[in-house]
Amino acid sequence: MTSTKLAARLVALLALGAALYVPGASGSAGTAADTAAYRDPSLPVSDRVDDLLSRMSLDEKIGQMTQAERSALDPQSDLATYRIGSVLSGGGSAPADNTAAGWADTYDSFQRTALSTPLGIPMIYGADAVHGHNNVYGATIFPHNIGLGATRDPALVNRIGEVTAEEVSGTGIDWTFGPCVCVARNDRWGRTYESFGEDPEIPSAMTSIVDGFQGATLGGPTSILATAKHYVGDGGTEGGVDQGDTRVSEAELRAIHLPPFQAAVERGVGSVMISFSSWNGEKVHGHRYLINDVLKEELGFTGFVISDWAGIDQIDGQPGFTGAEVATAINAGIDMIMVPYDYQQFISLLRAEVEAGQVPMARIDDANRRILTKKFELGLFERPFTDRSYTPSVGSQAHRDLAREAVRESQVLLKNNDDALPLSKSSDKIFVAGKNADDIGNQSGGWTISWQGSSGDITPGTTVLEGIRDTVSPGTTVTYDREGQGIDGSYESAVAVVGETPYAEGEGDRPGGLGLDAADLATLSRLEESGVPLIVVLISGRPMDIATEIDGWDALVTAWLPGTEGQGVADVLFGDHNPTGKLPMTWMREAGQQPINVGDGKPALFEYGYGLDYG
Ligand code: BGC
Ligand code: BGC
Repeated sequence: MTSTKLAARLVALLALGAALYVPGASGSAGTAADTAAYRDPSLPVSDRVDDLLSRMSLDEKIGQMTQAERSALDPQSDLATYRIGSVLSGGGSAPADNTAAGWADTYDSFQRTALSTPLGIPMIYGADAVHGHNNVYGATIFPHNIGLGATRDPALVNRIGEVTAEEVSGTGIDWTFGPCVCVARNDRWGRTYESFGEDPEIPSAMTSIVDGFQGATLGGPTSILATAKHYVGDGGTEGGVDQGDTRVSEAELRAIHLPPFQAAVERGVGSVMISFSSWNGEKVHGHRYLINDVLKEELGFTGFVISDWAGIDQIDGQPGFTGAEVATAINAGIDMIMVPYDYQQFISLLRAEVEAGQVPMARIDDANRRILTKKFELGLFERPFTDRSYTPSVGSQAHRDLAREAVRESQVLLKNNDDALPLSKSSDKIFVAGKNADDIGNQSGGWTISWQGSSGDITPGTTVLEGIRDTVSPGTTVTYDREGQGIDGSYESAVAVVGETPYAEGEGDRPGGLGLDAADLATLSRLEESGVPLIVVLISGRPMDIATEIDGWDALVTAWLPGTEGQGVADVLFGDHNPTGKLPMTWMREAGQQPINVGDGKPALFEYGYGLDYG
């Protein structure tokens, strides 16, 4: 540590008051806390919370409202020093040993630190397990939400929640920042694939995943806390701009964007994350009416509200956060702040706001009551460490089989001239091409191993090409060339797997065209020139502008972002599964139609709900 950093730390510590740091009072046997009522699992949770709250100092309460990034907690003892109640891994923030066991070790180490404080309040660790436990190398990666929306199968999505929770539990993590129940209205938005659909009916139905994550009770052995995000209107911004402004009437906000949150609250979702976006120019992170009045009072949400990543920094439009922003956010009803780096500053600012009477103690107590209730319900006080019996479930065959089933069900057959599909497993020669045919990273999309995702062999899985090779008969020749070079008229069919490459929030916004890139167009025209029947498989996070190309294709399957189990795509191409997927989004005729949505009267290329089968 540099001397200036050390000095800053000392000043911060002094400002917090000496009482905060109690050397030796490490929660070991013999402290008063060991026999305290809050430690007694036979008492009702509300009694335990009352007892614990009565023992907590203001600093301890403020710590519970603070969430810091794993990598920012340096030294790790800061977790105990500042009584920080929660840790997160941001997108791609993995321990050096990015294996299930490495995550479990990291989790347990943080937890030991948290338990070393006098009251021994366990920390709660959150991560974005948004299509499987996607930061973990070797985890099962499920289709992104847009594909799950196409399945129209809430029971399947519930099972995905269950097995994802098992993988998450096997790494110690207690809490996922999912599901995203955004209603994506403009496909230019780079988070469109995180949406189950453009009409609230599908995102509402798919809150079945909340039950899968949380289990029948939060105290189950593989239960994890779920998060409905991003409250509210994240998918409705002008121009589909990420973190932008949702300019709609209250009636429209309630009709389009609110219903999935209501559904999640009815299912007992444990947390809700606030949206970076604004509603008619006002940042939701400071919006007391939407958070306190609508979410908590009207919908009756009893869990806790988490901010988004440094979301409070944006309230006043200036970089960084001030005491006023902290007070505005907490008074609006946010219970825990994803700081994620400047936790010392956050803690001292919140303390100053409370002391100045800007944030009432009742609000601090309410936030703590909500957070601690979930910690008790999760059983963190009784079972604070990773249950290693679930660690081997990460990426298990049984979970991959479920993911393959989800991939199959998510395929949408949009065109099939002259029964070009299904392909015959006993064809002599099949040609496969396209940049997304043999690339696990591309078929998984953003939020996979890293925040934005990346191309290449980033984690184990089966590519679409491998799925095709594994399906055909031994006598079939499958020739692959990424660019489509070398095809001639001797092939019975050509399969082009094209579309988008990985992106996530921000990077994925496409204010210009929504068409295929030059490489894909070149590949496709090579295949078309051969005269071989052309099957196009589109791997993309959203509908694409293909109206001028589609006439040259015999069949079109949209695969969305299937994840690691590309075999599920082959299952549909060869008829092992008769396509059942239906569009969860209206498919534009041209990019200039955005936003285009069901019921708006704009002429679509394919309507919301469209999807063929093999008859
Ligand atoms: C983190 C993400 C986070 C983003 C916010 C990234 O560095 O990895 O988790 O959402 O920053 O800007
Ligand atoms: C994203 C959230 C995510 C958080 C933590 C933010 O940038 O908007 O969806 O849960 O980062 O990674």
